[in-house]
Amino acid sequence: MSEVAASSNRPFTLDDLKTLTDSDMLRVNQVITDNLASDVVLINQLSKHIILSGGKRLRPMLVILAARACRYRGEDDALLAAVVEFIHTATLLHDDVVDDSDMRRGQRTASTIWGNEAAVLVGDYLYSRAFQMMVRAQSMAIMDLLANTTNTIAQGEVLQLLNIRDPDTSEAKYHEVIYAKTACLFEAAARIGALLGQADPAHERALQAYGNHLGVAFQLIDDALDYSAESDELGKNVGDDLAEGKPTLPLIRAMATGSEAQRNLIREAIESGHAERFDDINRAIVATGALQYTIDQAQMHAEQAKQSIVDLQASEYKQALLFLADYAVERRY
Ligand code: IPE
Ligand code: IPE
Ligand code: MG
Ligand code: MG
Repeated sequence: MSEVAASSNRPFTLDDLKTLTDSDMLRVNQVITDNLASDVVLINQLSKHIILSGGKRLRPMLVILAARACRYRGEDDALLAAVVEFIHTATLLHDDVVDDSDMRRGQRTASTIWGNEAAVLVGDYLYSRAFQMMVRAQSMAIMDLLANTTNTIAQGEVLQLLNIRDPDTSEAKYHEVIYAKTACLFEAAARIGALLGQADPAHERALQAYGNHLGVAFQLIDDALDYSAESDELGKNVGDDLAEGKPTLPLIRAMATGSEAQRNLIREAIESGHAERFDDINRAIVATGALQYTIDQAQMHAEQAKQSIVDLQASEYKQALLFLADYAVERRY
């Protein structure tokens, strides 16, 4: 891999990331499949449908990279990476019910195939399986962290629900939601790596801050892509946020800086939760610079993520973490 990148000083690439993490991610996938099994057929079908349909596996990769960057050599990184992916997947199952989404990871969502009830209950199954698994790592600090994290995520989802169809929500409230629903799990993933590697408190804080900023950047781009991506490439339906009346940053910013006509257009769409004016709204968020503003904010957080780990010892894993921050902003899916 990155011996090449390191020795030639050429930029670290996605291929380097894959090569570097390939064998560790195989271990993670093994833990995932080993722990999916249930005697209940529906649980097997539904959980396999979502978990084995791909996904970028960014959060588990973060656990692995952070642990390796802190020179961890044990086996619990794969276990905890799988735990983090189970928690993420559980939130996706629930999120697609709440958001009424019918496409995820390029496939029909579990809730459209098996119904909302089954998707919610299997989400609970995955959550509770994650808790069974994390106990095996026998770290009170990690259990404490993950208990708090899952609670914050749930709170974030409820907070978001309260903001639905509310055009008067603020940028500050938006940030509160995206920290809780998304960044918090990235933060925990990076911090778990530090805890496994018994990093000193300064390095633990550095990785925690890195995960936080990475997660915020990641969700900002997710919210930009919900307007600007192609559904096929994204693997999710573009326009879902508007159809849900979800006031994300592109809309909040366009309302703050746009003309009265643009403001009324967006206000009306958020209140009604109708996506009929998607094309007009898309033009408005581009014309007002709100889409670019969202991307710029993501870029800023990616820079802060990188800045957070400057003092981390140089390694190919650190290079990979730096690469991931840029990738979170440049990604198209
Ligand atoms: C989707 O996360 C949910 C958000 C926080 C935006 P990902 O984009 O990481 O989803 P997968 O796991 O790759 O499908
Ligand atoms: C992320 O928000 C939700 C979770 C953290 C579960 P979104 O609703 O934007 O995620 P997608 O776009 O459906 O993946
Ligand atoms: Mg959603
Ligand atoms: Mg989204």
